Amino acid sequence: MTRDDLFNINAGIVKSLCTAIAKYCPNALVNMISNPVNSTVPIAAEVFKKAGTYDEKKLFGVTTLDVVRAKTFYAGKAKVPVEEVNVPVVGGHAGITILPLFSQATPKANLPDEDIKALTKRTQDGGTEVVEAKAGKGSATLSMAYAGALFADACLKGLNGVPDVVECSFVQSSITELPFFASKVKLGKNGVDEVFGLGPLSDYEKQGLESLIPELKASIEKGIKFANQS
Ligand SMILES: NC(=O)c1ccc[n+]([C@@H]2O[C@H](COP(=O)([O-])OP(=O)(O)OC[C@H]3O[C@@H](n4cnc5c(N)ncnc54)[C@H](O)[C@@H]3O)[C@@H](O)[C@H]2O)c1
Repeated sequence: MTRDDLFNINAGIVKSLCTAIAKYCPNALVNMISNPVNSTVPIAAEVFKKAGTYDEKKLFGVTTLDVVRAKTFYAGKAKVPVEEVNVPVVGGHAGITILPLFSQATPKANLPDEDIKALTKRTQDGGTEVVEAKAGKGSATLSMAYAGALFADACLKGLNGVPDVVECSFVQSSITELPFFASKVKLGKNGVDEVFGLGPLSDYEKQGLESLIPELKASIEKGIKFANQS
């Protein structure tokens, strides 16, 4: 089952949970983990808009697991300690919409192009790799718990006024033509403080960006359509 197959099951659940959020905790930061995140975040936004509680600074698609994977795979290949690694992951949270920017990875490792392609593919297919390894007994749970805790902790630090808390997240965005996009986001006392641009991309990443736009656009539109017709 792909994340998009989950749409029909999860879209309705997300819609009803968001209706309850709008009623009972309208000022909460909402960290959306339910897949397909590329569609469930737009569904949440539409539900909140209808309820009159939408605040684009408070709705996040959790893409931290993509960052955790990109960092881990890069550290292994570059033979550097994973705790020192930083890799932005932009776009969305399914297949080719996940775009790790290894050209911006630190520490610099000057990996060959084949390695960058393999690392990109492995990051994009990380969820499937886990599902196959578990052979029908579930998806990524422990790694998601770790990633979810990292992101929630970063949000709490931002709310508490800790300066310069930056994480990648799928948020309302104007850095591309799409209304939602994952990129580095500064977290502050009200949620999103600043959405950072993509920075310089390699030719391979530019191609990846061009390829992901139509798929991500369709997933966003699917979410908006679902929220407004049901
Ligand atoms: N964003 C990410 O990186 C990421 C990573 C892993 C999993 N996920 C997503 O997280 C979600 C959960 O995955 P999981 O592996 O924990 O699934 P799971 O099947 O183990 O758990 C789902 C839970 O939701 C509960 N549930 C079902 N219907 C509900 C409803 N109407 N209201 C409230 N709760 C309900 C079930 O009882 C169950 O406890 C999935 O959408 C999965 O795709 C996202």
